[in-house]
Order: sequence, then structure tokens, then C-alpha cells
Amino acid sequence: MSLIYLDNAASTWPKPPGVKQMMAEVIDQYAANPGRGGHTLAMKASKILFRTRMQLSRLFGIKNPNDLFFYMNATQALNQAIKGYVNEGDHVITSSIEHNSVRRPLEYLRREKQVEVTYVQPREDQLFYAEDFAKAVRSNTKLIVTSHASNLTGLILPVGEIGACARAKGIAFLVDASQTAGILPIDVEAMGISMLAFPGHKGLYGPQGTGGLYVSSEIDLEPLIHGGTGSQSEAIDQPATRPDRFEAGTVNTVGLAGLLAGVEFVLEKGVEQIHQHEWNLTQKTIRLLQEIPGVEVYGPDLSVERVGVVACNINGADASEVSFILDQQYGIATRAGYHCTPLGHETFGTINRGAVRASFGVFNTDQDVEQFVQAMQEIASAFRS
Ligand code: ALA
Repeated sequence: MSLIYLDNAASTWPKPPGVKQMMAEVIDQYAANPGRGGHTLAMKASKILFRTRMQLSRLFGIKNPNDLFFYMNATQALNQAIKGYVNEGDHVITSSIEHNSVRRPLEYLRREKQVEVTYVQPREDQLFYAEDFAKAVRSNTKLIVTSHASNLTGLILPVGEIGACARAKGIAFLVDASQTAGILPIDVEAMGISMLAFPGHKGLYGPQGTGGLYVSSEIDLEPLIHGGTGSQSEAIDQPATRPDRFEAGTVNTVGLAGLLAGVEFVLEKGVEQIHQHEWNLTQKTIRLLQEIPGVEVYGPDLSVERVGVVACNINGADASEVSFILDQQYGIATRAGYHCTPLGHETFGTINRGAVRASFGVFNTDQDVEQFVQAMQEIASAFRS
């Protein structure tokens, strides 16, 4: 049985061959500690990190690469951004489709620091409007934080317009690019993004354990982690210089070298082309699934462009059971359940049952879609009889 991988929203797979090659090269030739020594191997390790920072900056329109800090994943980056910026009594605006990586830090702050949180809802057409975020602003609003796209339905939020509102009102804007980094164009300057959190292992095609946070030089963040940086070692306090201030401890040099290869793959292919390919597969999947009796697909209609994520259910069938059958009988990997976004499930009306999620990457084909739809058709028919 051949394997069809449709869980790219969780981690893209397979990776471009250059990722493995780059990681093997570093392990074999210079996996020394970057920034901790002046010897040749340490310098080579530092240089590869510098290249990764440069290419990511190029991808996201970041002027100063030192404003980009490496973390293990988007969750760590989001925690640093939210908890390092929001203080007791502040107000934060977010959306009602957030992943737990935004919702849980915010709810923690609400509980422990009396922070107020407003969850903006989509309108009847299931879309979000920047105006609704602007209307939620209060005198103590410190931050607007939203996903760039939903990990449940692929719905894209108008981050450029929200960023313009935030900028006009002098409020910081944090974007969770977990489902869009490497998939949709992102330009932090043009889109008014003051902080951008992203994973390395999804649309950037790097390994797990990599990710990062961009923080505009205008934003003053309190570091969450203190420790060795290889710089100003005689100082008692965390150095003020970036990126050291936010990168205490040895980073994942081997993983970040793999991420460099992933980012270069994305830059070479072109973000627009990647998105177009995934959107084509998504439209085809939704169109075909909608023709199957007993299959329900979530999210707005097809006139609205999304990223490559499709959430659906078969009436009368449990989402986890469907995903299990897809895996065991058809060799098709999907994700089922609540996708770490109970908020998103409340918003899209699936809180009582979760959903089966198929998500696409650059290596998926029309044939993958056809086999997935065929399998769903057979499973739906078995549940009808
Ligand atoms: N956040 C990832 C997902 O949506 C893991 O599956």
C-alpha cells in the first residue's frame, strides 16, 4: 500500500532532499557551539545560523536579521511574545479561531494577571473583518494577536488590514504564521506586523524543533528565559543586544541548518506558486467531497481563498474512526479530533464532534486528492448502509 501524506498542517513531509543533506553536513563537519568560541568550527556553526537568519529575513521582509530570534517552535515564540509584552491589567484582542498556542497563554494571563481578553467573532459569511478588531480597541489595549490562517479550515484572516488598524492606533500586532509561513506572502513592514511567530517544520520544510520570532525594534520585550548567550559573560543581567537577549542557551544548530535548506527551497519555488498549487488541490478536494452524500465540509464557500486545509465529517461516523480507517485501510494520513483549537471548533460548529482534517503540501498531487476522495466515498457509503 502506498502512503499518501495529508497531514502537512501538523508537519510537512516529506522534506526536500537538501534538508537532510544540510543537517548531515553540519553533524559530520562542524556541529560545534555557535557564538561560544572563536575557533574555526564554532565560527562555521555561527555562520550557518547567520545565513538562516538572513534568508528568513528575506522571506518575511525583515530589515534587520538580528530582530529575528530562534525558538523550538511557534508555541515557544508566541509565549515569549505574549508573556514578554503584556502586563497586569492590559487588554488583548484576538480572534475566535485561535490555536491553543495563543489561547492558553492569554487565558493564563487573564487568570494570573487580570489581563482582559476580547475574542472577535467572524460575521455571518464566516469571514473576519479588520473593522471588528478596530471596534474592540479600548484605552488599555496593548496587543492584537491573530493567526494568519486557521489550522482547522484554512480560512485566511485579513492580517494586512488588521495591521494597518493596529498601526494607526499605536497598538502592537502579533501574527501567528503557523499555517502560512512559506505558504502565503508575508512582509512584516507592509502588513504592519510588529511581531511574527512561525514554525520551521511546516511550510518552511525544516525539521521539527525549529521556529522563530520576529520582534520589531520598536517593541520592548521582557525575555522569558535567562542564561548564557556567549556574549557579555561578565554582566549579571541578560545582555540588551539582539538576538542574544532572547536566545539564552545553545540553539538547535543542526536543525536550523536544515531550516536554511527548507527556506531556500521555498524561496526558489516561490511562495505564490506554492500557495497556488495547494489552493488548487484544496478547491478540488472540497468540490469533490461536497458531491458525496453524507459528507459535510466546513468553512466558507469556495469563492473565498484558503490555505491547503480541509476539515470535514461523515454523518454518523466518528472523526477519529474515519481517520483511523483512512490510515489503516487506505494508507492515507490525516488528522482527526480537535486539532488543538476548541475555539475554532466552537466557531465553525464542530465542537461536539471534532473533524477529519486533510492538509496539503508542495509534494501532494491531484492523484492524492482523487484517492482521498475515493476513500471518503467508500467510507461514507459503508456508514450509510
Ligand atoms: N498545530 C498543528 C496542527 O494544527 C500541530 O496540527
